[in-house]
Amino acid sequence: MILVTGGAGFIGANFVLDWLNASDEAIVNVDKLTYAGNLGTLKSLRDDPRHLFVRADICDRVALDALFAEHKPRAVLNFAAESHVDRSIHGPADFVQTNVVGTFTLLEAARSYWSALSDADKVSFRFLQVSTDEVFGSLDAADAPFSETSTFAPNSPYSATKAGSDHLVRAYQHTYRLPTLTTNCSNNYGPYQFPEKLIPLMIANALGGKPLPVYGDGQNVRDWLYVVDHCSAIREVLARGVPGETYNVGGWNEKKNLDVVQTLCDVLDTLRPKAAGSYREQITYVSDRPGHDRRYAIDARKLERELGWKPAETFETGLAKTVRWYLGHQDWVDEVSSGEYRKWVETNYSQRA
Ligand code: NAD
Ligand code: TYD
Repeated sequence: MILVTGGAGFIGANFVLDWLNASDEAIVNVDKLTYAGNLGTLKSLRDDPRHLFVRADICDRVALDALFAEHKPRAVLNFAAESHVDRSIHGPADFVQTNVVGTFTLLEAARSYWSALSDADKVSFRFLQVSTDEVFGSLDAADAPFSETSTFAPNSPYSATKAGSDHLVRAYQHTYRLPTLTTNCSNNYGPYQFPEKLIPLMIANALGGKPLPVYGDGQNVRDWLYVVDHCSAIREVLARGVPGETYNVGGWNEKKNLDVVQTLCDVLDTLRPKAAGSYREQITYVSDRPGHDRRYAIDARKLERELGWKPAETFETGLAKTVRWYLGHQDWVDEVSSGEYRKWVETNYSQRA
């Protein structure tokens, strides 16, 4: 079996669902269930013996040791993280704790378990770190996209703590020969994304008749990847990636934020037209995020060249699927939009001019 951390969050849960759709290999899913973790996403697996959910913190070494001893996973995939840049600006401590101390604790537990394996099991074991393109910092308009050899230059507490965890993973491979793999992926979107991130927030606000808050001039660029494509990339890297290597994952979809929001409005105008006018009329400009990275872009050619991976969705097909999913799952959005969510919206948006 494999051990997945953060499997009740956006990408982790998509990965768990996708994995069990394609394979009978069981999963131990370890998640602390922060505001971002939601078991409702996994309810189709409630009676599935291939999925074992354990509520635990990746900073809890005793709990991790017990899980390794009991389940003897052949691989660990680390999705667990504090993942939202704006929250990292308001409260960086949780990011240092989970992203750095948590990854360190998981690496230590994995190393201890792995050291006692047979030689053959040692060779086949994998520790896969799921990371972000944000560790590379910000690009200017004319810069080449990030490659695997780009220098780390993180700018937010979120990206700095992810960079720190990526460095630890690298060091465990180099120093102890733990067979690690790292993926650095661009912005994901798709089903089950918590409505604090750009695309699900804009869908929720549009449908709720609320303003669509574009930070700054709306010209910041992100590379967007449909989450199921990220899951297929992770499966490929786990199956055939070379230990010690890192792989950039991206969708070849560089878009300005304003274009993303306008396109989203157009899709909603088609699928759920308003009584009068367009959702575009709800777009408002609000004060910028401090230290807002201007542009991210990913060169994903290594993954294509070495492992034959390419995204299946274009931005247009992925976005249409995503909007349709949110329109059909208002119950899921209501479930995660709890009191804590409303508090966050107040914290992040009420002081923006
Ligand atoms: P998310 O915030 O939706 O989910 C994170 C999950 O981790 C939640 O279920 C949460 O409960 C769990 N968690 C948090 N702290 C924990 C702890 N201490 N112990 C155990 N579980 C804990 O995040 P996501 O968007 O699904 O991102 C998953 C991973 O992918 C992260 O490592 C993130 O850095 C990386 N990533 C995300 C994106 C993106 O666009 N969302 C892009 C590239 C990489
Ligand atoms: P986000 O989804 O938070 O991802 P990240 O910061 O990791 O890239 O934001 C994506 C982009 O959208 C980013 O440039 C910030 C911008 N943004 C807004 O303009 N308004 C918003 O309300 C949010 C949440 C993000």
